[in-house]
Amino acid sequence: MAEFPHIEYDIQVPYCLRVFFTKNAFRVGNPLFRDLACSQENGARKKTLFYIDKAVAATHPDLAGDIESYFGHYQEDLDLRGIHFPDGGESLKNNSGCLDKIYADIQRHCICRHSYIVGIGGGALLDVVGFAAATAHRGIRHFRLPTTTLSQADAGVGVKNGVNFNGKKNFVGSFAPPFAVVNDFSFLKTLPDEHLRNGYVEAVKVALIRDAAFFDWIETNVDSLNQFEETVMEELIHRCAKLHVAHIATSGDPFEMGSVRPLDFGHWAAHKLEQVSNFEISHGAAVAIGIAIDTIYSVEMGYLEKSSASRVLSLLTRLNFRIYSSLLEKRGDRGYPLILEGLEEFREHLGGRLTITLLKNIGSRFEVHEMNEELVLKSIERLKTLA
Ligand SMILES: NC(=O)c1ccc[n+]([C@@H]2O[C@H](COP(=O)([O-])OP(=O)(O)OC[C@H]3O[C@@H](n4cnc5c(N)ncnc54)[C@H](O)[C@@H]3O)[C@@H](O)[C@H]2O)c1
Ligand SMILES: [Zn+2]
Repeated sequence: MAEFPHIEYDIQVPYCLRVFFTKNAFRVGNPLFRDLACSQENGARKKTLFYIDKAVAATHPDLAGDIESYFGHYQEDLDLRGIHFPDGGESLKNNSGCLDKIYADIQRHCICRHSYIVGIGGGALLDVVGFAAATAHRGIRHFRLPTTTLSQADAGVGVKNGVNFNGKKNFVGSFAPPFAVVNDFSFLKTLPDEHLRNGYVEAVKVALIRDAAFFDWIETNVDSLNQFEETVMEELIHRCAKLHVAHIATSGDPFEMGSVRPLDFGHWAAHKLEQVSNFEISHGAAVAIGIAIDTIYSVEMGYLEKSSASRVLSLLTRLNFRIYSSLLEKRGDRGYPLILEGLEEFREHLGGRLTITLLKNIGSRFEVHEMNEELVLKSIERLKTLA
């Protein structure tokens, strides 16, 4: 193309992905949020609009009052414009009206690019609020305060956001690093056991693709994790979040322009299973099954030792995850297994060639560009027997 007259400049946009750890972020006396908000120097009081997952607000009845007191205490610096309480969970991502509602709030509360939008909730709420913030006025700075183990360890600490469209996961979304992530462990106290557990599976995932020592650590700490011991859960979240952020920051492809997405190990099947279940199966539960499928498939293809696969399945089972669902056998009108459609949908979502991460060892992954459908189905059969 050099022979054509053209104008070309490199544009480099520096981003900083930062995750802070604290407890009771909005207790007066905890300066973290105020200091972060004021780190953007323009002198003005920082207009801030909150979205709190309704389930979080219901289980933390003092939270909204604490935020009001906090903003009252720091009123020279902070300007509270409103607190809204949308329903959290996947139904929010499936609700096509939710974005319009947030855009209308942003307009009504005069939120500008120098203001902040704060999402407090599970990964689903953060995905929706993050997308609205990334697109209103072409980008408003947003804070994420994840309130589930899964979102503190994974979903909330990355650079992606999105909503579902026509039943397809994350079909509409953007890459927009948050202004800051604040992992406040005190939110986890009210999280139901099922959701406390869900974060563990993303830790198993990232350990499998990046960090064998972390996998060993999870194995050693299964009992404490099953008892939801605070310090052990907090360490798991910290290590898992660090591995995710390190991968995004250092892999050379933070906005996924290529096709390699190791952090989505096990996710091609998981996303399809969530959809086939009509989102009755949670993301965490689906990822456990997705990891189990790709682990067995890695053995079937001769890449991974059977003994390593046994360790993976045994760890998932000991953490009380199911490794099989009868929905994996569901077939479409023409008799084609629905789960296999997940491969093409995954490819389409990424663009380019199909790229699936598999294991050659615990802590060591590689990519393939095709999946043998018969062996995928055989792997699922094998899981059925094992389950
Ligand atoms: N953007 C990304 O990079 C990324 C990565 C992984 C997953 N995700 C997305 O994250 C979502 C899953 O997130 P999740 O596992 O946090 O589930 P979730 O957001 O669906 O939350 C689970 C449930 O717990 C409730 N809840 C949240 N915090 C609570 C608390 N502290 N106390 C009581 N109830 C609480 C919610 O209202 C919801 O009903 C999926 O939509 C997934 O696609 C996004
Ligand atoms: Zn995930």
